[in-house]
Amino acid sequence: MTTITLVQGDITRQSADAIVNAANSSLLGGGGVDGAIHRRGGPPILADCRKLRASLPHSRLRSSGGTPIGKGLATGQAVATTAGELDARWVIHTVGPVFSSSEDRSELLASCYRELLRVADELGARTVAFPAVSAGIYGWPMDDAARIAVETVRATDTAVEEIRFVLFDERAYEAFATQTR
Ligand code: AR6
Repeated sequence: MTTITLVQGDITRQSADAIVNAANSSLLGGGGVDGAIHRRGGPPILADCRKLRASLPHSRLRSSGGTPIGKGLATGQAVATTAGELDARWVIHTVGPVFSSSEDRSELLASCYRELLRVADELGARTVAFPAVSAGIYGWPMDDAARIAVETVRATDTAVEEIRFVLFDERAYEAFATQTR
């Protein structure tokens, strides 16, 4: 049986089998959760990311500065690395969609959660800590991000026993609490 729990706090302080990173396609780090995970987890995570990236196909995406990303993880996919100094065995990295008001990208955001749970099951993770993917730098409105996250994990078959959403502030916590009441 799977339980959904909510915690307000910093995801890098969580103890869980796996911690989810809201990464970008390059897997080479960034701001938000991604920056915090690499800072606290230390160089082994980035070393793993570089190795993983080498095995991925070339992405057609470009960075916001226009530079080709090169090899990259597609939006909506997920991959696992070790977790360095974090209190977890694995980090599972996903790439959420950038929010768009002119195009419905909800299916890509739902795909992130399905893929994260699929990878967690492959690893045998029983407790997994998730941030609100896409709801920071990628601009997704928090209420909608929370709805998609909760609806998708509820609809996904998984052996994960605890799905723990770790929300950075009260507003995010409330958005997830509304969906789980
Ligand atoms: N613990 C828990 N939640 C956090 C933390 C933390 N330490 N830090 C931020 N949040 P974001 P995205 C919240 O921006 O929108 C990176 O540069 C944050 O308040 O981390 O998917 C990547 O490299 C928000 O509610 O992820 C990508 O380029 C949520 O986590 C891009 O940002 C997600 O915010 C990904 O953007």
